[in-house]
Amino acid sequence: MLDTHFFSFSDGTLCCDSVRLDELAQQFGTPLFVTSRQSLVSQYRSFEEAFASLPHFTCYSVKANFNLSVIRALAQEGSGCDVNSGGELYRALKAGVPAEKIIMAGIGKSEAEIKYALTSGVLLLKAESVSELRAIDRVASRLGKVASVAIRINPNVTAETHPYITTGDSKEKFGIDEAELGEVFNLFKTLPNLSLQGLDMHIGSQIFDPEYYVAATQKLLDVLESARHLGFDIKWFDLGGGFPVTYDPQKPATPITKFAEKLIPMVEDKGVTVIFEPGRFLTANASVILTRILYRKRNHVGKEFFIVDAGMTELIRPALYQSHHEVLAVTRHDKSIVADVVGPICESSDFFTRQRAIDDAAEGELLAVLSSGAYGAVMSSNYNGRLRPAEVMVDGDEVTLTRRRETYEQLVQNEL
Ligand code: LLP
Repeated sequence: MLDTHFFSFSDGTLCCDSVRLDELAQQFGTPLFVTSRQSLVSQYRSFEEAFASLPHFTCYSVKANFNLSVIRALAQEGSGCDVNSGGELYRALKAGVPAEKIIMAGIGKSEAEIKYALTSGVLLLKAESVSELRAIDRVASRLGKVASVAIRINPNVTAETHPYITTGDSKEKFGIDEAELGEVFNLFKTLPNLSLQGLDMHIGSQIFDPEYYVAATQKLLDVLESARHLGFDIKWFDLGGGFPVTYDPQKPATPITKFAEKLIPMVEDKGVTVIFEPGRFLTANASVILTRILYRKRNHVGKEFFIVDAGMTELIRPALYQSHHEVLAVTRHDKSIVADVVGPICESSDFFTRQRAIDDAAEGELLAVLSSGAYGAVMSSNYNGRLRPAEVMVDGDEVTLTRRRETYEQLVQNEL
């Protein structure tokens, strides 16, 4: 079983910290996202410990899980936030994160979003194109401000991961190409409302091999040297997120200390504060989706299906990235069978597992889909008229409802 520490069996029943998951299902219904606060805190602390000797600032990448209570739990540990839109900025501020601890990414920020970020007073806007830099300058000039900017470099390093989550390659839309840097530096010399304060990269997500970070960091260091040569005072050196977690116990993630060992010596004496933007690393294994088996069926070729009340509308990762998620019966059984665990959505890609051994649980019993805390709820949808599920946070033996289940009225509330 995936050793997440915070989800474990006690007397044959799966628990989150010391709370039984069957009791949570009874109280809040299913499907239900269950998040362990202690897991979030423990992941954050292990990240901080790994990079303790480096002057750095960790900005939780809110896109992984934007639940206000999740943001708040990490902010209370000292984390800043990396946001990707006006909506995420709104959420981070609403969770109580001070603007000066928020950095804003996004390849397509609208002028309204730029204005929102500048009036809020965020620490940095990370820009990804010449046109965007011009837009930031325009908006800043209207507001009578000088915008603190980091430029996101595309280091042209192809990290080995799922092709949909690699971002540091010249084939991809992200970042500013090396060839454009001359023009970009010139802009900073000529546009009065921009101040170049940082360099930034993010090469992708769920990257197992630290060498990709090493290669990209080396390129960013070269850019740092050129920028300093031109007289820019670079304070922030943002290496992005992408640090891996274990989804499949057969494929354990590289420990975070291995990344720290490689990266710290490269950047510790460069006179910059390093920014990290972990998302998945902090949240993925902190949550499960609790779901009830509605029906079981066996077809004429002997294939077994567990049809459950959660689906791709709550966790699209298996459909979109063929990702592995462990699925466990909440009540342990001695016997297991090979089955597909599928959702109620009218798509063949609506599955959690295919042809995998699972406890021989009966209709009406509960399953837990593990590692659902990153890119789960945030990517959920109302497809098929589905209601977004409730979310609870567990801390020891305390349970808090952090998001109410949607209602049918909410499904139509914006329609005229
Ligand atoms: N910083 C930037 C600029 C990013 O674009 C991302 C993720 C992160 C940080 C955080 O990456 P993490 O540490 O979570 O890997 N939906 C996909 C992942 C998309 C990631 C998008 N950007 C999935 O479920 O695997």
